[in-house]
Amino acid sequence: LGAGARGNVYGDYAVEYPEQLDIVGVAEPNAIRNERYAKKHAIPSANRFNTWEDVFKKPKFADAVIISTPDQLHYGPCMAALKMGYNVLLEKPISPSEKECRDILELTKKTGRIVAVCHVLRYAPYFIKLRELMQSGTIGEIISVQHLEPIEHTHMAHSYVRGNWHNSTTTTPILLAKSCHDLDIIKWMLGKESESIQAYGDLKWFKKENAPEGSTPRCTDGCAVEKTCPYSALKQYYRKRQRTYVFDLPEDKDKQGDAILEFLKTTNYGRCVYRMDNDQCDHYTTNILFKDNVTATFNMEAFTPWGGRRTRVMGSMGFIEGDMSKFTIYDFRTDQSKTYESKVLDVENYKNEGHGGGDWRLVADWIQAVS
Ligand SMILES: NC(=O)c1ccc[n+]([C@@H]2O[C@H](COP(=O)([O-])OP(=O)(O)OC[C@H]3O[C@@H](n4cnc5c(N)ncnc54)[C@H](O)[C@@H]3O)[C@@H](O)[C@H]2O)c1
Repeated sequence: LGAGARGNVYGDYAVEYPEQLDIVGVAEPNAIRNERYAKKHAIPSANRFNTWEDVFKKPKFADAVIISTPDQLHYGPCMAALKMGYNVLLEKPISPSEKECRDILELTKKTGRIVAVCHVLRYAPYFIKLRELMQSGTIGEIISVQHLEPIEHTHMAHSYVRGNWHNSTTTTPILLAKSCHDLDIIKWMLGKESESIQAYGDLKWFKKENAPEGSTPRCTDGCAVEKTCPYSALKQYYRKRQRTYVFDLPEDKDKQGDAILEFLKTTNYGRCVYRMDNDQCDHYTTNILFKDNVTATFNMEAFTPWGGRRTRVMGSMGFIEGDMSKFTIYDFRTDQSKTYESKVLDVENYKNEGHGGGDWRLVADWIQAVS
């Protein structure tokens, strides 16, 4: 359900491993996406739907459903799928409402079905190894953790200033939309319950008062500072051709440039980052007190040149520092250090966004669980 970016990440697993996963239906209101998905997976017209509601009007015709609809459309399809006996792969965040999360949990228990939530970092070899080292006492007793989620300034502009997650009231707050992975992974690595939490965050930069003189409502309107603006839509989408998957471009490469320009003139992706109706924080800092007085700090930062995650773990007998491609363990007892490298590539479209190979490993695990 939802044949956008994530629906294609999971669907592409079926193309690579058809003996494990067969996509037999699609629900997607965007006609181009629906058509492309149906073609890729040879889906018969009877199993193509405009919206998730229609899927559940038909008797059960698959073992499981993948829910990769926008954040605010997770609860409805998940409850409907469970009621009909489907197992579910559910995109994060489960729901912005605690009650809805608990309803889903209750219904999984009642129906005996599986709802796997796409916390892909738990499947990244890097984090699996880090957790194993932390929990096996390699650096003694864990005292504290520092974890940074650098969003990368152009990714911030793309998703949380201009894109689908720009306003927390129509989607979910950025701490859920983006950082639920990080809050989850800290707790998962420590293996402890949290006891108290404190957080500060703010939208400091992407606001009207910071619009430079000579800037215009759209980057394509003849903006006087477009050429030097790091957030220029023309630079990101037209000149660098980054993150253009959101546009469903024509397959003919010669037609793509004009299509991008048209999208920049007509959609939010061409609007000035200082003149959006955005409200998502561009920096967030969180302190968490875990059981046994272990502390963790978490920072989400928009203004970085790269994405991914950076983590430091302080232990009584050693220290670990890593950047999601490799980490180094320092042993205070021997004065030795050792580096662990995880050479896993992210799937298409998510190469620099720091899932560390977790996307497809999660799908593989889920298939095993539900079959
Ligand atoms: N696990 C991760 O690391 C990760 C990464 C990015 C996004 N996400 C989450 O995945 C979900 C999808 O994100 P995305 O980036 O693929 O967004 P997207 O906008 O590319 O895809 C969502 C798709 O759902 C479709 N849709 C809208 N209404 C629908 C309806 N009523 N029925 C069926 N389909 C409908 C949209 O047309 C769109 O194609 C979001 O909840 C997002 O937060 C997870």
